[in-house]
Amino acid sequence: MSNVLLSMRGVSISFGGLAAVQSVDMDLQEGIVTALAGPNGAGKTTLFNLITGNLPASSGQISLRGKSILGLRPHQIAGMGIARSFQDLRLFTHMTVRDNVLVAIEPSSWLWQPGGRAAQRERMRRVDEALEQTGLAGMADSRAIDLSYAETKFLSLARIIATGSRIWLLDEPASGLDVNSRTRFISLLRDATRRGVTICLIEHNLDVMTEIADRIAFLDRGRKLAEDVPEKVLRDPELISIYFGKSR
Ligand SMILES: Nc1ncnc2c1ncn2[C@@H]1O[C@H](COP(=O)(O)OP(=O)(O)OP(=O)(O)O)[C@@H](O)[C@H]1O
Ligand SMILES: [Mg+2]
Repeated sequence: MSNVLLSMRGVSISFGGLAAVQSVDMDLQEGIVTALAGPNGAGKTTLFNLITGNLPASSGQISLRGKSILGLRPHQIAGMGIARSFQDLRLFTHMTVRDNVLVAIEPSSWLWQPGGRAAQRERMRRVDEALEQTGLAGMADSRAIDLSYAETKFLSLARIIATGSRIWLLDEPASGLDVNSRTRFISLLRDATRRGVTICLIEHNLDVMTEIADRIAFLDRGRKLAEDVPEKVLRDPELISIYFGKSR
């Protein structure tokens, strides 16, 4: 039986006259990858912003393990174990790779060290482990601006891994990756789900989606039109025509 970690019911938000997310119901089940699919402007990133508290839902309910998280501040929601990455990555380009990860897990750790040296050592251990897993250990002292495109995508993932969060919301994490990097990226996500991490990711490439996702939720113009296993969603002619009619 599936275990629902994060649950959304009737979630909506409008920007002026534009209903960006309209009455969406969605569940994220523990330890699986749910992909959010749909054409540009479908409301995928906005849905992430609603979950993380970056935008206030105008109606509906969002709960984590049965408890409402609606109205909480983004840092409170992050503190409950929901980590997210951004479509535009938002790295600190002139900081080192290591520091980019360090600030993600403890924004004030380089100004003030709560918990003293033991806590500092533990944070550094988590940072090093995340860099090791993502293949960036050898570049820990490079500046983010000097990384290749693929390496910036892995750095963005390292920041999520290091938080130790159990729910990852990833906005187009694999977009533009070459085939080898993509395979490595997907296997990192699989390793995470085997450890019980719950992943929701936004993806445009149908091949990647088929490879990565256990379930696909398909959005168009703010509405969720379908949610099912990839074989079903990607074989629905109506969804495919919406997708290819509007996709980039
Ligand atoms: N802060 C905002 N203010 C006004 N309109 C917004 C805002 N954020 C998003 N929108 C609009 O809401 C709609 C949904 O945007 P969103 O970014 O969620 O789409 P998306 O599915 O992530 O698209 P893409 O695949 O291009 O990233 C779009 O029409 C967008 O222009
Ligand atoms: Mg988006």
